[in-house]
Amino acid sequence: MFRIIYSETLATKIHLFKIEAPAIARKALAGQFVVIRIDERGERIPLTIADWNEKEGSVTVVFMEVGATTFRLALLKAGDSIADFVGPLGVPSHIDKFGTVVCVAGGVGVAPITPIARVLRKKGNKIISILGARCKDLLFWEDKLRGVSHQLIVTTDDGTYGCKGVVTGPLKELLESGEKIDRVIAIGPSIMMKFCAQTTKPFGVKTVVSLNPIMVDGTGMCGCCRVSVGGETKLACVDGPEFDGHLVDWELLMKRNRAYLKEEAQACDLWQRDNLRRIAESSERVSVV
Ligand SMILES: Cc1cc2nc3c(=O)[nH]c(=O)nc-3n(C[C@H](O)[C@H](O)[C@H](O)COP(=O)(O)OP(=O)(O)OC[C@H]3O[C@@H](n4cnc5c(N)ncnc54)[C@H](O)[C@@H]3O)c2cc1C
Ligand code: FES
Repeated sequence: MFRIIYSETLATKIHLFKIEAPAIARKALAGQFVVIRIDERGERIPLTIADWNEKEGSVTVVFMEVGATTFRLALLKAGDSIADFVGPLGVPSHIDKFGTVVCVAGGVGVAPITPIARVLRKKGNKIISILGARCKDLLFWEDKLRGVSHQLIVTTDDGTYGCKGVVTGPLKELLESGEKIDRVIAIGPSIMMKFCAQTTKPFGVKTVVSLNPIMVDGTGMCGCCRVSVGGETKLACVDGPEFDGHLVDWELLMKRNRAYLKEEAQACDLWQRDNLRRIAESSERVSVV
């Protein structure tokens, strides 16, 4: 069992767990993920490693409540344990001295992009970050991302904070400004990453995205996470999750991610119906063991 040693609600329906997992903390690298399972009967879900502390033996994950498993997860507090926490999985981010790197984070994507920006900066890159959310209530880790960036631009779709609009607006302005941009890394919802890749393509700037197909084992065995990149079939869990955004077949990815919408909605309704009281009682924002 893996114990939650700290939990915090970062924004509406977005939670952080610090989990005791010394073996993973020793090996984790930016860009990798874990596969978790709450209990014996639980579904496996992948979550990116948002931070790790080798000394403390802890790994941090940040997740958004979107369906049955993440709703269940959100009810756990410090002191509770989860059955499986497997990792680190996936190919780590390619870290090099590229020059100027624009890190674009959409919604919960700020959690995985922050450690990547941190190691890229340590390597001597200039980091310009763009952080976008639908509204102010969904923004978090602005301070953390600012701390690892030379410049940070914040956008909200509805204009409740920062610049009004979506992340591709400032991305295009940066590309047109004449400043040499050597690489773009975009992490967030598929639709956001697709439009970031479309924005950078005419400028010929390499754009790395972190794909989020449905995964089961996370070790290359089930084939569930297959994606098409440059006309070749790849397994996001072992060949990725990072790929060249200009080569990804976005329509296929989004279509495959919608394959179980009906079953996901049913699982969610059933679970919410049976747990209304527990949901109403769970208002604690921070818990520590
Ligand atoms: C490599 C990787 C890293 C990820 N990192 C994060 C993260 O750090 N934080 C975060 O909030 N989310 C992350 N996700 C997405 C997260 O795994 C899904 O939100 C989660 O599985 C939803 O499960 P659910 O039962 O709550 O929702 P469901 O109702 O089952 O599904 C809601 C949505 O999540 C997708 N989904 C469902 N099951 C899976 C699965 N097993 N694998 C992938 N997607 C699934 C569905 O396509 C649907 O769009 C990551 C996905 C991948 C592939
Ligand atoms: S999740 Fe099974 S092959 Fe990738």
